[in-house]
Amino acid sequence: MKNWKKDSWKDCTIKHIPPYKDQNKLDKIIARLNTFPPLVFAGECNNLKAELAKATERKAFLVQGGDCAESFKEFSANNIRDTFRVILQMSAVITSEMKVPVIKLGRIAGQFTKPRSSDTETVNGTTLNSYYGDSVNGIEFTKEAREPDPERLLRAYSQSASTLNLLRSFAQGGFANLRKVNSWNMGFVKSSKEGKKYEKIANQITEYLDFMDAVGINTEQVIDLNTVDFYTSHEGLHLPYEEALTRVDSLSNKVYCTSAHFIWIGDRTRFIDSAHVEFCRGINNPIGIKCGPSLDPDELLKIIDILNPENEAGKISLIFRYGEENIDQHLPVLVDTINKHNKTVLWISDPMHGNTVKSSEGLKTRDFSSLLNETTKAIHILKSKGSHLGGIHLEMTGQNVTECTGGLYKLSDKDLHSRYHTHCDPRLNANQALELSFNIAEEMEKNGH
Ligand code: PEP
Ligand code: CO
Repeated sequence: MKNWKKDSWKDCTIKHIPPYKDQNKLDKIIARLNTFPPLVFAGECNNLKAELAKATERKAFLVQGGDCAESFKEFSANNIRDTFRVILQMSAVITSEMKVPVIKLGRIAGQFTKPRSSDTETVNGTTLNSYYGDSVNGIEFTKEAREPDPERLLRAYSQSASTLNLLRSFAQGGFANLRKVNSWNMGFVKSSKEGKKYEKIANQITEYLDFMDAVGINTEQVIDLNTVDFYTSHEGLHLPYEEALTRVDSLSNKVYCTSAHFIWIGDRTRFIDSAHVEFCRGINNPIGIKCGPSLDPDELLKIIDILNPENEAGKISLIFRYGEENIDQHLPVLVDTINKHNKTVLWISDPMHGNTVKSSEGLKTRDFSSLLNETTKAIHILKSKGSHLGGIHLEMTGQNVTECTGGLYKLSDKDLHSRYHTHCDPRLNANQALELSFNIAEEMEKNGH
């Protein structure tokens, strides 16, 4: 194999990099980004990898979640806080059921660029560039907004830096105190008969905390109960941007992509000779690979060998997203292939991307029951093969949006338009994300995870 360089991806097959008109302007912006400080440190990426390695041994479980696409418009302290809080609540529920620590990984602080199935979009006879995410162009359907503008990368960097700064404060500065996290919206829990079982778990957590207080392990005093490790991730799609933030760690002399702790390769850029695979080959971050119905397991094996020749645990997470209808056909074959070749991977269920449908009013949506069905099937398939589900990957927000149908509140097709704010795919709202976590944790526990 040829030597890897930060830009050796340019010699490979490049897909889904946005079409900039002014290459010179892009080059100038990238040159500036090259001089900007890293957003994450090598040691943190290594810590995450070590935690993911524990999850491959059933000693931890991963929750990866956040917006499909972060936007400049929805950027606010409250939004960041609410996403952080709901991930912490989901973690508390899962730990309480499964009795393992939860690795908290946001789809946040850098999830700004989107692959699109078509380069253009046509509305009422007008054809314009597709929307590629706020780091590239604007979502408004005008010629000006849809023109890719390299300046936007600076804003994406700056928003990522501020987001990460706030997340670090929340994670270390007391906001992660378990008592505060546990005070979730009990209305949701009490509102239905089914909700009663969740109330039990919530009460259980309060009882643990009371017990700890009584024996002198106070959440105010014990630093560990007030702080959490919170990591960031995004699809490493915009390679000029990712390259600019790729640096050699001065302590280890190893290369890391410092735009996030964890980078994943999307379903559309996962193939042999892909520029995205080549880029990820040289970085020491943990890497996710999306696996959809078009995946050829033998091709994936080759990609895994390229990315993780030493078969290091925690390095590769397979984020499968087949859809409730397709998972039975595809996942068993994939698990057999991986097991036959003794590859160590973390199995992560993304029940979002294979279950997208159009509502009666033409909005992209997903139904809660399909999501739960896909992940439940995944738990059973993996168990039947002697493997186990190691985590979930969700598009979700801490806001009370109406983008996915179903759940305890029985959000209907007709309710969707009332608070439909996503810049790309439909997200679970806070209650739905929490409810899904309850259900998945319960299913994992029933199956002896
Ligand atoms: C995504 O995670 O938003 C995405 C585009 O996923 P996939 O590559 O699996 O389609
Ligand atoms: Co998406």
